[in-house]
Amino acid sequence: MIDLAGRRAVVTGAGSGIGRACAHRLAMAGAHVLVVDIDAEAAAKVAAEISGTPVVADLSEPDFVRAIPSGTDIVVNNAGFQHVAPIEEFPPEVFSKILKVMVEAPFLLVREVLPGMYERGWGRIVNISSVHGLRASPYKSAYVTAKHALEGLSKTIALEGAPHGVTSNCVSPAYVRTPLVENQIGAQAGTHGIGRDEVVEQIMLAPAAVKRLIEPEEVAELVAYLCGPHGSFMTGTSLPIDGGWTAR
Ligand SMILES: NC(=O)c1ccc[n+]([C@@H]2O[C@H](COP(=O)([O-])OP(=O)(O)OC[C@H]3O[C@@H](n4cnc5c(N)ncnc54)[C@H](O)[C@@H]3O)[C@@H](O)[C@H]2O)c1
Repeated sequence: MIDLAGRRAVVTGAGSGIGRACAHRLAMAGAHVLVVDIDAEAAAKVAAEISGTPVVADLSEPDFVRAIPSGTDIVVNNAGFQHVAPIEEFPPEVFSKILKVMVEAPFLLVREVLPGMYERGWGRIVNISSVHGLRASPYKSAYVTAKHALEGLSKTIALEGAPHGVTSNCVSPAYVRTPLVENQIGAQAGTHGIGRDEVVEQIMLAPAAVKRLIEPEEVAELVAYLCGPHGSFMTGTSLPIDGGWTAR
């Protein structure tokens, strides 16, 4: 049993995919969840499903932190997006935006909530990294850079937060069945002139030993574990859910 009754959680990018699953799982454990997303309709819908609070914010704008309450106990840094292009064609402004949303926003958010967590002597930071926080793939320079940076940020938070009862960990999945991946499947099918099933089997699942996509709920379960009582000694780690990808 993971009991988070009375805890106040913030999940970024909670309008879809992994973030939505995390919001649902934390709410099921009793936490009140702030559903943060740039997509107002999605944020409102998920918040209504879990009796949470929607917050419409663009994480590439640093002042989003004004919407974050100082009484936050749990942060799931999840919002993100992908852009696939060779480095010589990668738009610099997209590279910069990926780093803003996926590295600077987690830093700003954690910077905002840590003082309150330190005062209360309890806090949980879970950073949704990726197998691409641990391994590289071609054509994903910004995403791979951002996720490797997030892994470093997470470890630093762990070291600073430990004396104050705050843990910080990365959860690092391979391909999860979400809109982000569904879009990549479509794009790659077009680029390679092959079917969607072939993209999944021949390209996405090639490095993994377990030949299926991960479900968002499987990621959310690990996030809930890290926030619950049994996760209290786990900090500064990166937990791959990658079907054996990084075993190679
Ligand atoms: N899907 C995968 O295979 C996979 C694998 C490993 C890691 N991840 C990571 O998990 C996280 C969630 O991915 P997902 O697959 O659920 O994607 P998704 O596209 O389903 O959801 C991402 C959410 O983030 C929101 N978002 C994007 N930019 C934002 C911004 N600037 N401000 C506020 N909200 C913003 C979107 O509106 C969306 O609701 C990302 O960090 C992603 O890198 C995904």
